[in-house]
Amino acid sequence: MSIAIVVHGGAWDIPPALHADHELGCRAAAQAGWQVLSHGGTALDAVEAAVRVMEDDPVFDAGRGSHLNADGAVELDAGIMDGQTLMAGAVAAVKRVANPISLARRVLHDSPHVFLVGAGAERFAIEAGLPLCDPHALVIEREQMLWEARRNATGKEQLAFGKAGTVGAVALDAAGNLAVGNSTGGTFFKHPGRVGDTPIIGCGLYADNTLGAAACTGWGEQIMKTVLAKATVDQIALLGNAATAANVAIAYFRHRIGGLGGVICISPEGQIGLAHSTPYMAYAYRTVTDDDILSGLQVKDG
Ligand code: GLY
Repeated sequence: MSIAIVVHGGAWDIPPALHADHELGCRAAAQAGWQVLSHGGTALDAVEAAVRVMEDDPVFDAGRGSHLNADGAVELDAGIMDGQTLMAGAVAAVKRVANPISLARRVLHDSPHVFLVGAGAERFAIEAGLPLCDPHALVIEREQMLWEARRNATGKEQLAFGKAGTVGAVALDAAGNLAVGNSTGGTFFKHPGRVGDTPIIGCGLYADNTLGAAACTGWGEQIMKTVLAKATVDQIALLGNAATAANVAIAYFRHRIGGLGGVICISPEGQIGLAHSTPYMAYAYRTVTDDDILSGLQVKDG
């Protein structure tokens, strides 16, 4: 039986000085996921383990080190989905959860709901026995300085879309089950309460054992309007090839809406796909045909 893991560490114009850190972070995440899969663990455990590694790594816009919103606070979103049962869990706009992917996992298993937000999601974390953290523990100096600079900027300097190092993982386990997980701090200087694609089932993530699994990264407003994760898995089912499906989905995303972002995916057979419309996408993966984790910054061609 095939096993596979693919992770992404964001698709954007990643400056060369940050390439090594992004690659290393993705590698460590894929390694954590592979450890789970190669010891007979589930795809759900693998994607949670991989995403947690990147949430803990301040290089990425997820967990500690995330972008600050317009009020200068971290607000986190995450989602997870089980391709066997279609069970899903998601949280958004949480401020006191260091690993929102694990809270989303608790929503999946321990709640009759799919999506919890804000104070209600944090109350559920306490009920589920997950620790809450000091919100200031999620803020790092780099992001505090960016926020101060943005707050003092005016007019055209106030960019709506900048760095977007959302993280995510898709996995296939030895039992043939697919899973996907995604986590983000959202866009820089976002309006408090803004939620992007990352935790939204069908938009930022989707997994169905009969179709495939996909995780998206990039400009959430555009990804939501094109329901990009579901569009990608539908292409896997239609075309029977994950690599082509990722390319077709991103071509549609780019041509239909000028989309900036990327997608990673796995077919039910364990083929993988990666595509993006941005200059770079940070990634790492391993399948049964690979001797080690393969990682890098994929460069857009053409
Ligand atoms: N893709 C991350 C976001 O827009 O929030």
